Amino acid sequence: MRKIGILTSGGDCAGLNPAIYALAKSLYSRLDNVEIIGIYDGFTGLIDLNTKVLGPDDFDGLLDQGGTFLRSIRQGFKTMEIPDEKGVTKADKIVKNYKKLGLDALAVLGGNGSHKVAKLLSQRGLNVVALPKTIDNDIFGTDETFGYDTAIQTGVNYIAHLKTTAASHSRVFVVEIMGNKVGWLALSTGVAAGADVVILPEIPYDIDKVNKAVTKALRHRNYAFVVVSEGAYSKNEPQKNKERAFTRESTGFHGIGEQLAKEIEAGTGRETRSAVPGHELRGGTPSAFDRLYTMQLGNYAAKLIQEEKYGLTVARVKGKITANKLEDVAGISKPVPLDDRLIKAARNTGISFGD
Ligand code: F6P
Repeated sequence: MRKIGILTSGGDCAGLNPAIYALAKSLYSRLDNVEIIGIYDGFTGLIDLNTKVLGPDDFDGLLDQGGTFLRSIRQGFKTMEIPDEKGVTKADKIVKNYKKLGLDALAVLGGNGSHKVAKLLSQRGLNVVALPKTIDNDIFGTDETFGYDTAIQTGVNYIAHLKTTAASHSRVFVVEIMGNKVGWLALSTGVAAGADVVILPEIPYDIDKVNKAVTKALRHRNYAFVVVSEGAYSKNEPQKNKERAFTRESTGFHGIGEQLAKEIEAGTGRETRSAVPGHELRGGTPSAFDRLYTMQLGNYAAKLIQEEKYGLTVARVKGKITANKLEDVAGISKPVPLDDRLIKAARNTGISFGD
């Protein structure tokens, strides 16, 4: 009998439940004798031994469900190797409990931080396979992460609702979009929603250029939209804002949208409001793309487990489902390249990046 543990870790997103569904159903069909152990609240469930033996029926109906029925708690990578009063670290507890549960493998559905923990546990001898989830799309080595597509559509719908009120009141709206330290989600959402200005952490903005672009948009219609990534910063304050980005855990990013709205109102003379969809971007029903994508990722993860290939994270590279070594990709960020095709296309269609 093979015992496989599954956990979901870090910020949730739409796509986790379908990924669990595909992984579990595929494990049941690939392996003659398998027991799946659900681990609750991410790595916390392995530290505190909060687990449950699940059966095939437990996974029914998950394909179209948002969130994660295994729940998730953030366990910072940095805390993993800090010894407690008895000299025992969280990583030690996880390794001990993995053995206590008799696990043959552990599937970790997580983002960047979780990939670092997965790599650490793999180095400590556990059989780990990871799957790339996050609305931020910032995991190195994969074309996309799951959850990203749903979040783009949620952001686009959110902005569509704001457009009517922006038009009624002849206002400028600044919409702050999550994304941690990278601008993928703001870029895709902003371009797809028809924003006039898109501001990313990868391209520090010049407020005069932003105001110029907003004024230009207001010449053509009575309202304008600026989409700003939560980690963005002005070119005049790179140090201050970089520090802000790196201390997100203590401060939170929220604030750049509000700050920009004030600067735009002062610079253009047009009434400006800010709006933050925030965690709404992580919620809701997974898109058809995310369902189809996680179907493939989950199935591939099950194949790796079947073949006892570990220390890997499933990925899509140039459209092909494959796997990367955790040691090659964990902890490496994936910022939007300045020559990204979507940035080029957006610039050519008149969208400003505030630079
Ligand atoms: O990593 C996903 C993400 O939603 C980021 O886009 C955002 O910065 C962060 O998580 C928010 O985290 P929390 O749910 O802890 O507020």
